[in-house]
Order: sequence, then structure tokens, then C-alpha cells
Amino acid sequence: MKFATPAGENPIDRLTVVGQPLRRIDGARKVSGTAPYAYERHDAVTDPAYGWIVGATIARGRVKRIDVAAALRAPGVLAALTTLDFGAFKPGFRTTLHLFGGAEIRHYHQAIALVVAETFEQARAAAHLISAEYESASPRCDLAREASNAEPTADRDGPDYPVVDRIGDFEAAFAAAPVTLDERYTTPDHTHAMMEPHATTAAWQGDKLTIWTSAQVVSWHRDSLAAALGIAKENLRVEAPFIGGGFGAKLLMRADALLASLGARVTRRPVKLTLQRPLIANGGTRRAGTIQRIRLGATRDGRLTAIGHHSLNGNLEGAFAEAAIAPTRLMYGAPNRDLSMTLATLDLAEGNDMRAPGEAPGLMAFEIAMDELAEKLGIDPVELRIRNDTQVDPRSPRRRFSGRHLVECLQVGAERFGWSRRHPAPGSMRDGRWLIGMGMAAGFRLNLLVPSGARIRLERDGRLTVETDMTDIGTGTYTILAQTAAEMMGVPADRVTVRLGDSSFPQSAGSGGQFGANNATSGLYAACLTLRDAVSARLGLDPGTAEFAGGDVISGDRRVPLAQAAEGGALVGDDQITYGDLDKEFVQATFGSQFAEIAVDQFTGEMRVRRMLAVIDAGRVLNPLTARSQAIGAMTMGVGSALMEALAVDKRYGFFVNHDLGGYEVPVHADIPRQDVVFLDHPDPVSSPMKAKGIGEIGLCGVAAAIANAVYNATGIRVRDYPITLDKLL
Ligand code: MOS
Repeated sequence: MKFATPAGENPIDRLTVVGQPLRRIDGARKVSGTAPYAYERHDAVTDPAYGWIVGATIARGRVKRIDVAAALRAPGVLAALTTLDFGAFKPGFRTTLHLFGGAEIRHYHQAIALVVAETFEQARAAAHLISAEYESASPRCDLAREASNAEPTADRDGPDYPVVDRIGDFEAAFAAAPVTLDERYTTPDHTHAMMEPHATTAAWQGDKLTIWTSAQVVSWHRDSLAAALGIAKENLRVEAPFIGGGFGAKLLMRADALLASLGARVTRRPVKLTLQRPLIANGGTRRAGTIQRIRLGATRDGRLTAIGHHSLNGNLEGAFAEAAIAPTRLMYGAPNRDLSMTLATLDLAEGNDMRAPGEAPGLMAFEIAMDELAEKLGIDPVELRIRNDTQVDPRSPRRRFSGRHLVECLQVGAERFGWSRRHPAPGSMRDGRWLIGMGMAAGFRLNLLVPSGARIRLERDGRLTVETDMTDIGTGTYTILAQTAAEMMGVPADRVTVRLGDSSFPQSAGSGGQFGANNATSGLYAACLTLRDAVSARLGLDPGTAEFAGGDVISGDRRVPLAQAAEGGALVGDDQITYGDLDKEFVQATFGSQFAEIAVDQFTGEMRVRRMLAVIDAGRVLNPLTARSQAIGAMTMGVGSALMEALAVDKRYGFFVNHDLGGYEVPVHADIPRQDVVFLDHPDPVSSPMKAKGIGEIGLCGVAAAIANAVYNATGIRVRDYPITLDKLL
């Protein structure tokens, strides 16, 4: 179905199953170890061999020679493939990352060889016998130093996002503004640090290949691997039923999928391969660090008159910029605006998507700037944001937000958090030796519409089976799809089986850009409508009036058990959701407010987050339990961004030193306080028939700035360079 006009009342609105806090239907399998992950497909393949990837030890240059002779003689070794044995594999779409093939090295830990052996240990041991000679050039890896070589750049997303994004006369308005701010902020490189590393099991049957891999978007993996291998898409099956987190790292194929496939072809054995954890930070993608300059001009009563935001960032040649100015375009009103980005070339892991790409690092800076401006104005920071709310796109005022309740997020958050107890003067709240600070920030993230398909079958026994290549990356997709099918077909959720992550199923939106839940459930909604019609037709009921409730189909004075429709054979509904032009007329976005209370040891600078609260406006909440988990996970990630996470580059060699979970600090339970989440319930009929929006990323947006602002409130020290480690307070 094409969704082209705002949704009217529909069966989802009954909310008998959708909107209920159903526990994860895949939960028992996950906690009992019976949900098979990509590296664990003992059930699917017999007699697998094991691979180990060798990464380059230079960041820029060429491989001259790779010696695999000793490795080939090592016990159990079946094959040793090197990058010099192949031409360069063409990068997939949305990435320029060089996975394998050819002599050119573009970033540290680029895969240069693969060893395949009878056992994991044999492959690993043999890999250490491989030696390589390089011709290396000095790597460009210092963003500040490369600034002078940076070029103006747009976001990758096309006409809506021009290189020059100027409205009014920023310079004049900024010069004339009675209150101004002009500051520089930096955000560091981040790595996704998902629990399950990239991993693939690959097996060929003749010229057909199956991979079990850890993918957020199955169809993207299928398309890019098929293109890299030069095989027809129809000859490649990708399965990803369970995924241990992604955060954007697994949107696109990585070296494990390509090399497992090559290794399996050469050895004629199924091959299991992970992109080893220590190779991920340099050999995968990163959230690219930024240097941002923000200039704000305001009237004395706190109306923004001028917004200037420039972000510098660096990436491999041909790769795109981290769109840190993206939220600034739509967050606050102001008649004069100058937003721009520049991009330098860096020989580091490719900057690419990580949870709330653009918005997360942009708001890390911008929402500190708003706090600073509030202080200069002597206006409460919550109030300053309320005064600058806009209900229209500042670039084209005829384009309204489909639903924007940022002001309510701010007001409800302030009320629930006890914001009135905050003292605005830094260092004025104490608890013994601890200085106490309260901070807040606003959050923003686009709601993206992506076509998504699904199939639903009414089985002869009355059960329903949903099939789509959609993934569940730990978010609760299985559960909300079961809820959607149950609501549409009028049965309890336990009558529904959900099968995901198989490229032989209808193509879905996949999990990314916080677009998974809304689009995938909408695709299933469309499929359910076709199944309802098929059921009505089979039962001889009027499809226009048939209602599906309580396990029955009801029309006029007839009430027939749903299962009866399948007695003569299973019935199938198969459709996809596509979208019309509603997003030309409406901006679709999600909003949030984030509040944090922090304690800072006045002698040591040790920081302890004590309380956090998020208030989120993201349309209809499909399942309050899984939605809350999404927000809590994102807030936890925000604590990492604020206080801990940074990839540290060794500028001599161009590699991230802390490239494992020992050296790259992320929060653990002991770091995380009580977190509260409030979802405002404003179904959005413009977003989809589900009236839902994305929730996977909005929970992160603004968190780090709220904590940074709390640190300032506690100490009077304004740290503008993330992460806020205690040395910056001493
Ligand atoms: Mo998200 S960064 O699109 O997984």
C-alpha cells in the first residue's frame, strides 16, 4: 500500500495488543543460549573450517609483499589468501571502506590476509606467521592539522541538505545582537562497541552461497556482497535472525562476510569468521570526531536572532561527513542562519553511521551552547528553549512539523525532575564533599520513512506466521511485529510466529536510522490488510465491514472463527508499505528532553551521575516496555559519550590505540544511576498507519550535553571538549 494521506482511524487504534507492555517473545531463547548468532550456526553447517583475519599495520601506502609460506606449513592450515591475490573489491553503497583486494592501504587494520584452518586456534597461530612488507606514506590523522585542507561539503542526503545553508543575513544579525556567544566544541571519534563483533558463517552449495551474518539491514548486505563477489543476488542468501547489537556498525557489509565467502570458496568448506574485536576500531567504521564552532545571537529576552554552526570533520576520500549541523537546521527558530560543514581527508577508519549520526555529536555541542547562552541571558535553560521553539521548518515556513511536542517534553521533564530545586549559580549545591549539579538539554532526531515489506500466513491450525527480512538487533522487533499482526487479525500475540532476517523473505526497511520499528510494522500492517481481504473472500464476508476480534471474523450478524478461513489451505497476505509525498508537506521528527544530576568530588574530580530522566515525543509507543529499554540503553550510551568514550589516535602511525573493550571505556552498570523515561503519547497520523515514529536514537540525543551542563552547574568549569574526564576539572 502507498501511504499518501494522513492515517484515519484503523484497527491498530484499538490498542488491545499494540501499545501493551508485552515481554520480548524472543527473550527466553536469548537468555537460554538457544538463539543462534552468526558464529554459532552449528545447526546449519557441518564440518566448518575457521578463519582469522590479518590486518595491515600501516595506515596509508601499499603492500609490497606478503609471505604466507610459513603459515601454509603450519598445522591444520587449509588456505592463506592475501589481498594481493585479488583486485580491489568495489565498495558497496554508502561506504568507501576498502575491505579487501589490491595493494592499496587506506586505513590501519585493513584486511590484508585470511588464514583458514581446521580449528580456530590453528588459524590464529598460523596468522602470526604471516609477514608483510609495505611502502608507507605518512598518515593524515590529526583533524585540527588537516583543517586547512578541508573542503566545503554537504550531507549525503541530497537536495534538502545544500552545501550552503544560509537564511537572512547572519553576520549582520550576529553583529547587532545584544547578547552573543561564540565558542568552539570538539567531539572525539567513537567506536560502536556492540556486544557481538562482526561475524559470518559462509557455505557454498555449487554456485549458490549462504551466509549467516550479523547484519542490521539484510538486503544491503546481500546486494553489496553479491556485487563484490560478482554473483547474482538470487544466488546469495543472507540470514541474520539474531544480532548482538549494531549501533550502525552492521548497516553495511564488513570484511568478515567477504572473506568468509572467499575462504569457503577456496577451501570448499563452510567457514566461520569474525572480524576480531581488536580489528574493529581501525578496520571497521567509526563515528567521526568533529570540531564545531557555534555562534548565537539573541535579544535580551532570549529570542535567537542569529544561529551560526560550522562543523569540521575528516574522513577517507570519497566518504561523507558527520552531519553535525543536521539538528541545528530544524531545532530552533531564528531568522538569520549560517550553517555549513567542511571535510578534510584523514587516513583513519571510515567515518560512517553510528547511532543518531549527525544529531548525536551535533547536539553534544549545540546544547552546551544553549546552556551557555541561557546563563549569559540570565534565563532558565528550559525556558530559553521553550522561547525558541518553532512549529515550522525554518528554511521553508510553509512546511510544518507533523507533530512536535518539544515544549511539552521540556515542561514535563522539568516538573518530573524537580528542576525548580536547581540553583543556577555553579557550585552552590553540595552533599558533603560532593558538588551537585543539575543539567538539561533538548533532543531532536529525524523520523525517516523507508519502504518495507512483509508476508503473513494464516496456517491451517489457525496460527499466523510473519516473514520479513527485517532484523531484531536487540530492540524488540520480534515482539512488536507479533503485536501488530495480533492486533490486525484480532488474535492474542501468542498465536503469532515471527520469522526475521532472511533474504528469501520480503525485503524490509531493516534496522537503522531509528526507522526500523515504524516502517517494519507498517509493512506488516499492509500485508495484514491483504490477508484480511483474503480471509473475508474465503468466508464469503464483506471485506468492507468485516471486523477481526477475539479470534473471530465478524460481519453483520455472522461471527466465524478466523481459523475456519484456513481450513481449505493456508492463506497469505503479502504487501509492502511505500510512502507518498507527505514528507514534502511535513517535517517528521522526534523530540526529547534530557535531565541529569551529577555529583563531582570536590577534591578528586570523580564524577557520578546520580539521576537521569528522558521525556520523549515519538508518536505512538508500540510497546512501552521495549521502548523504555531503547531509551535507557541510549541514555547509557550518552553517559559514555559525556564522560568516557574516545578513540585515541597514535598520530605517528595513524591508528586507534584503544582498539578493544579493555581500552575503549564504555559505561558499566556501576556507572549508571536510576533512569526514568516518560513517553508522551501523541500518535502521529502523518508518520504511517501505525502512527508511530522512531525511538531507537532519540534517547541518545542531548544526553551528553545534559551531563556536561550538569558538570558545569556543579563545578563552574565549562568543558567543551568531550569526553569530560576528571583531569579536565582539576
Ligand atoms: Mo543506525 S547509525 O542507522 O544503526
